[in-house]
Amino acid sequence: SAQTQNRKADHLRICLDEDVQFHTNTNGLERYRFTHCCLPEIDRQDISLTTTFLGKQLSAPLLISSMTGGTEQAGIINHRLAEVAQHYKIAMGVGSQRVVVEKPQVASTFAVRSQAPDILLFANLGAVQLNYDYGLERCQQIVDLLAADALILHLNPLQECIQTTGDTNFAYLLDKIATLCAKLPVPVIAKEVGNGISGVMAEKLLAAGVTAIDVAGAGGTSWAKVESERAENPLQRRLGTTFADWGLPTAECITSIRAKFPQVPLIASGGLRHGLDAAKALALGADLAGMALPFLQAAAESEAALHELVEVLIAEITTVLFCTGNTTIEQLKHSRALQSLK
Ligand code: FNR
Repeated sequence: SAQTQNRKADHLRICLDEDVQFHTNTNGLERYRFTHCCLPEIDRQDISLTTTFLGKQLSAPLLISSMTGGTEQAGIINHRLAEVAQHYKIAMGVGSQRVVVEKPQVASTFAVRSQAPDILLFANLGAVQLNYDYGLERCQQIVDLLAADALILHLNPLQECIQTTGDTNFAYLLDKIATLCAKLPVPVIAKEVGNGISGVMAEKLLAAGVTAIDVAGAGGTSWAKVESERAENPLQRRLGTTFADWGLPTAECITSIRAKFPQVPLIASGGLRHGLDAAKALALGADLAGMALPFLQAAAESEAALHELVEVLIAEITTVLFCTGNTTIEQLKHSRALQSLK
């Protein structure tokens, strides 16, 4: 567990101090442009970003992606994130809760529910842990700690390859995910960590009983790079560098999953860096737009910086709606305002 805690501390430090983003591979959204409407004929004040996801109302289709917990600094960050999520009524995830099962005294660094009673809140665990002694009981414990609305199972095969003692037994995991989905009383969301979920894999996960997908595609934080920075042996350092830009661009994941599954609750994330990215992802069919690194950077700075970030994101999405002549997110999605450039 000391090892798990050190890893969490390293992740925060590296993500805040080093260049950890994709370089050559992008989120794919630059291949799209909104058709500008020179006369929207709506009052900007009438625009509403209100959204429902997994039965809960949000004031904007935004998610603070799963990041951290388990250390003192992580606790401060989670509590700042929860405060801003509650204030603006947006969704939030916490980082992998494996550390709590190993070391129950760090529970408070995750337990943000009392501070954010109304938000859509996601618990988090690496799916591969289902092959390492994690079953229904521990998953329930993780969900209960947060009074979470859903459990995110993250899929991170590349990251585990570059970790010095990574958990790389992914054999028969889909069956275990299916068993968990059948028994856990809250919905399960399958999420990547920045390498993307293809349409084909989404189909398998949904058939296994997963309720929603968070694509967490390429173009933003590269976990191969993060793990390369902290890898102890040269082979893994090199592996991380080689695979720094590996993965499916976020835009491609969204379009391929939406084409197969018009109704499935779908989260876009991975390399979204402003409200215009978020609005493009929504117009491509996502229901929520998630961001990790931008929220971490703001949270490390101050609560004021976090409030400013959310206000900017809301203003940017609102401006897209206004300049495409739409009053709601639902209208935007059906507007065909987004054009593919190639
Ligand atoms: C993450 N991410 C992550 N994801 C997850 O499911 N469980 C986790 O414990 C973590 N931990 C974590 C720590 C830190 C410091 C960061 C920045 C990110 C991955 C995150 O949720 C997201 O999928 C990727 O970072 C891609 O999104 P961005 O950063 O490009 O917006």
